[in-house]
Amino acid sequence: MCGIIGYLSTSPGVSKKIIHNLKKLEYRGYDSSGICLLKNDKFFVKKSIGEIKNLQKKLNFNDDYTCGIAHTRWATHGKVNLKNTHPHLSQDKTWAVVHNGIIENFLELTEYLKSQNISLSSETDSEIIPQLMSINKNIDNIEKLRNVTCMLRGSYAICLLHKNEQAIYIARRHSPLYIAQNKNSTMISSDPVTFGEDYEYYYALPDDCLAKVDLKDISVYDSNLKKVNIKPCEVGSFEKSAELGKYPYYAEKEINEIPKIIDGLMLNYNNVDHFKNIDKEFIKNIKKIKLIGCGTAYHACFMGAKFIQKDAEIEAHAEIASEFRYSNPLIDQETLCIFLSQSGETADTLLSLELAKKMGAKTIAIVNVPYSSIARESDIVLPLCAGMEIAVMSTKAYNAMLVVLKLLSEHLRKLNGKPMNVDISELQNVDYFKNIDKIDEITDLVLKHEKIFFIGRAEDYVTALEAGLKLKEITYINCISIPSGELKHGTLSLVDMKSLVFVIATDQTLLAKNLSSASEIKARGGKIILVTNLDVPCDMDIDYIYKFDKIDSSLSSILSVIPFQMLSYKTCVKLGYSPDKPRNLAKSVTVE
Ligand code: G6P
Repeated sequence: MCGIIGYLSTSPGVSKKIIHNLKKLEYRGYDSSGICLLKNDKFFVKKSIGEIKNLQKKLNFNDDYTCGIAHTRWATHGKVNLKNTHPHLSQDKTWAVVHNGIIENFLELTEYLKSQNISLSSETDSEIIPQLMSINKNIDNIEKLRNVTCMLRGSYAICLLHKNEQAIYIARRHSPLYIAQNKNSTMISSDPVTFGEDYEYYYALPDDCLAKVDLKDISVYDSNLKKVNIKPCEVGSFEKSAELGKYPYYAEKEINEIPKIIDGLMLNYNNVDHFKNIDKEFIKNIKKIKLIGCGTAYHACFMGAKFIQKDAEIEAHAEIASEFRYSNPLIDQETLCIFLSQSGETADTLLSLELAKKMGAKTIAIVNVPYSSIARESDIVLPLCAGMEIAVMSTKAYNAMLVVLKLLSEHLRKLNGKPMNVDISELQNVDYFKNIDKIDEITDLVLKHEKIFFIGRAEDYVTALEAGLKLKEITYINCISIPSGELKHGTLSLVDMKSLVFVIATDQTLLAKNLSSASEIKARGGKIILVTNLDVPCDMDIDYIYKFDKIDSSLSSILSVIPFQMLSYKTCVKLGYSPDKPRNLAKSVTVE
């Protein structure tokens, strides 16, 4: 979603550096961008709609500015237009702001501003921040920022410039902000991926804190204006892993990385005992487990709940984070809450974590971004080790989530005194892409049909959900995912000759039932593609069988999703759409 860069340098020409780093935030999704540079007590502001290159065209990279802030906006309050694009200035032109998040009480604050004879020139909630900063000129700026942030409800990462200072004021609540410094420059960013080239260390601004940063100092305060010490984190390979290499799109690169990532993940979990704190004592009083996430991560939660219930025999349920918070969740010290998130910043998941902690639950985070808020705030972190994921369609992170969940469910099983269900190292001997070249033909079938369905039972139903999500989010094709057994309770009425139905079957004990669902579809004129790694009776009337590699059925879901990830990617490219940045979606959803 929105991205923030702030930059101070000992040498002029900062616009080039700022734009270069703003582009690294493009993957998060945005619809307009803007920059504010500061010199001789005056702001120079440029904004543009669409891609950052439109903004770049409006700038002279040989500028003589040493200080600036910039933003990529993903519209929430107010349309996509120049007026609403950040940075926003105060009416008296003393303050400039870029803001991520949502100020919930902005209507109330707008009324207050009106009473001070200040009217807003944009439709955004963000503009109230510099306007509030411009009132009450006689107090110290850091104190003023504290007072203003106390007035704000909602979430924010704020970066402010004052026209008379070569310094940047920052504050955050529930939206990340990071600071990096070397002897020549200081950078503020909403994502440490921008630090890879120039910095060795960076700092995460703690939640509900504010700071003044310049070229030499980083002064951090809590909301009582007490100084806070922050610890540096090393800029690691994660921040540097976002190169596209030989691939045309990140989506293709990331699907192709899956085998390497799973190998690396298994090696990492062999070498480091990530489960050491999940011991008998930790699970002693645990009566139930909740797995909580959004989007693809929610599907991983759903799969994880099935793994845990089967392997560890502990009651486990998956919850959509945005629903969980409003469901009067019945959790306490005897509940373990596991939060799944690629980014570790998804607002609903983060807020669910806070709620679970407040209610006394034990917490585990399964995240990809090691420095993320969800990782920082959970009792235990299980890393996904998938490297930076750029494409909005989360692929490699999903497969990594399933592997970590399987390792965890087997670990919990062991703690319950039972022998291992499956040898997970079997994953090292499979061909993840067996028959993947056949996906092209299937893509053509998808494009020829008006109605697309994905069906399956048990774990295969979860794969059907994920397959449907991938297809709709990047190809804009409407499709339905449904448990096979539910078909005749309504959805079968939609099936006709214009229908293409993917039947996913990876469990021998459920094969007959799945094949009978397939017959029901055939009888209504629908076309069937069976996606399986089982031996299927050859007299079955199936239009197409896609076979992926054989593996123990409890691990099949890690493989069975790959043909669907590839199918969505190839269909998207054939339709001429952008697989990495689908319309209306963002990689990291940091607002509720
Ligand atoms: C967004 C992304 C999805 C992702 C979901 C959860 O909607 O577009 O790909 O699955 O957020 O993100 P998280 O970072 O929490 O896994």
